[in-house]
Parts: sequence; structure tokens; C-alpha cells
Amino acid sequence: MISGSLRRRSTNSAVIRTGHWQRCPGVVTTVYEDLADLPHFNPDDDVDPLPNAVVAFRSLIRNTDAVLFSTPEYAGDLPGSFLNLLDWAVGDDQVGSLYEKPVAWINASPRGAADAHQSLRRVLGYLHATIVEEAVACLPITANDLGDDELIASTQIAAGIAETLAALARFVRGRDGGVEMLVTKKPVLKQ
Ligand SMILES: Cc1cc2nc3c(=O)[nH]c(=O)nc-3n(C[C@H](O)[C@H](O)[C@H](O)COP(=O)(O)O)c2cc1C
Repeated sequence: MISGSLRRRSTNSAVIRTGHWQRCPGVVTTVYEDLADLPHFNPDDDVDPLPNAVVAFRSLIRNTDAVLFSTPEYAGDLPGSFLNLLDWAVGDDQVGSLYEKPVAWINASPRGAADAHQSLRRVLGYLHATIVEEAVACLPITANDLGDDELIASTQIAAGIAETLAALARFVRGRDGGVEMLVTKKPVLKQ
């Protein structure tokens, strides 16, 4: 699960963290926390030996069955640091990359952020990721919805996040015959 925001007390990171900590039955989640460590994407650098942060990012993606995003909109588009992450994903042509991988997102913006999410859809389309429409959700969240622990305090919103994860997991199970979602294919999966 990946947040497109680097901000402390980010609502999008709260969505991701809440999805992780409330635990969806049968689903093992991993939160990508190292967005800030990725170097600026440069095709010249997309060669072995890759920067460690890129190796770690691509390895995480390759070991997941699906990916859930939650990103803010900046200036009518995706935040640059998040787009940078997607650029590194585009450069990955190995098995297990985002190519045909089930993906979805939660739009947590109270203002719609339609342009950013249109952009996310377009970029994921270029990546040939499989957008799981039934797991794409709008759950408007404000700073007031966050508790001191930086998780979503509202049980209603938390339930919406859980349902999104469940929808993504259902898709993966239906397609691949059983899993574990955002999610790794390692035996750690069972809770
Ligand atoms: C530099 C900047 C640009 C922004 N541009 C937009 C925008 O174009 N559209 C919008 O709806 N919100 C915009 N926002 C508001 C953020 O998307 C909003 O505060 C969001 O909740 C931040 O997500 P976070 O809490 O996960 O960091 C902008 C915020 C910043 C800091």
C-alpha cells in the first residue's frame, strides 16, 4: 500500500496505515514507507547496479499480489514525489512489476481531486496495471478524522477502507485462485 504524501499527519498516509493496522481477514498488507528515499528518476540511472531504494521499491512491488494507492492532488495533478515513484515503476520490465498487477486507490480528498486521480488512472494505464474498479473508492477525509495516533478515528471511514481492501483481495482471489493481497506471496501472509 502506497501513500502519495510525504506530509506528517497526512490524511492519505492515514488511510494506508489504517488499512494496514486494522487488518483485513486473509490479507497481509505491507506499507511502503520510503517514498522520500527514491532518487529522481533518470533513465540513465535505470541500470545495474540500481540505487538501493529502487531495488527495495521494485522488490516490494514484485512480491505483492495487488497494490492500493492513496494520494493527494497538488496543483491539479499527482504530487511530484509520487509521480517519481510511478516513473521508477514504469522502468521495471521484470516479472512481477505493475504490468497487469491488480491496483486500486482510495481518493481521500474532500475536494474531489479529480485531476490527480484521472492522472493516476492514465499513468497506471500506461503501465498496463489492472485497475480493479470495484476497489476504487472515494472516502473524503479531513484532518479532524485523524486521531492522535495518526490513524483514521472514524469507524465508518475505517470500514470503508476495509471494504476497499476486501474488494481488492476478492478480485485477486477470483483471478489467481487465492490470496493475500497487498500483499506478499510469502508465507507471512496468514494472520
Ligand atoms: C502544494 C499543494 C498543492 C495543492 N493543490 C491542490 C489541488 O490542486 N487540488 C486539490 O484539491 N487540493 C490541493 N491541495 C490540497 C491537498 O491535496 C490536500 O491538503 C490533501 O488533503 C493533502 O493530502 P495529505 O493530507 O495526505 O498530505 C494542495 C496542497 C498543496 C500543499
